[in-house]
Amino acid sequence: MPKKKVSIKPGPMLYPLPAVMVTVGDMEENNIITIAWTGIINTSPPMTYISVKKSRHSHDILSRSREFVINLTTEKTVKATDYVGVKSGRDVDKFKEMSLTPIKADIVKAPMIEEAPINLECKVFEIKELPSHDMFLAEIVAVHIDEDLIDEKGKYCFEDAGLIAFNHGSYYKLSNRKIGGFGYSIMKNKTKKKLAKK
Ligand SMILES: Cc1cc2nc3c(=O)[nH]c(=O)nc-3n(C[C@H](O)[C@H](O)[C@H](O)COP(=O)(O)O)c2cc1C
Repeated sequence: MPKKKVSIKPGPMLYPLPAVMVTVGDMEENNIITIAWTGIINTSPPMTYISVKKSRHSHDILSRSREFVINLTTEKTVKATDYVGVKSGRDVDKFKEMSLTPIKADIVKAPMIEEAPINLECKVFEIKELPSHDMFLAEIVAVHIDEDLIDEKGKYCFEDAGLIAFNHGSYYKLSNRKIGGFGYSIMKNKTKKKLAKK
């Protein structure tokens, strides 16, 4: 029997997505906004985007500064991730309320969140106005990762960061149980054995 499909109203049903905490500001006037409409759009140079509604307090700051930091989110920061996505910086100091620590970035003026295991410093090169959101296209100009995510061989162990995903309105933890690797579907047994020894 073929599986039955139901056609539903078109919507942004691409899941899972990251729900990241984006920081904006200049270390004096700081803010954090949760963003799910984000992704990678180019490898080299690394480029990303965030889509932000004009009504957000962060939109005002971003339009002026044209810089931001993407802070990846974890099981430990999931409550903060939700909070900074439902409260506005116009009304509360989200760093203070969620006990998050702003630390200086290397290149951009926007702060990084110390509690995030991975921080991407971004510089905006284009703002594209779309019907509901403005898309801030940006180059990733620096990346920081927690030291304990680098093993003794220098490998980045992102699977140990406790990263979370956003799936249709809810947050989910990612398992670190690997079920495949890039290109594994066509990998020769000889190569598999060689890799297993490493
Ligand atoms: C999981 C989640 C994802 C969100 N994604 C976006 C997004 O991609 N773009 C956006 O403009 N707002 C998004 N929001 C809403 C903003 O984070 C929210 O309106 C926030 O309070 C704005 O803060 P601000 O006024 O301090 O900038 C999201 C909220 C949540 C909880």
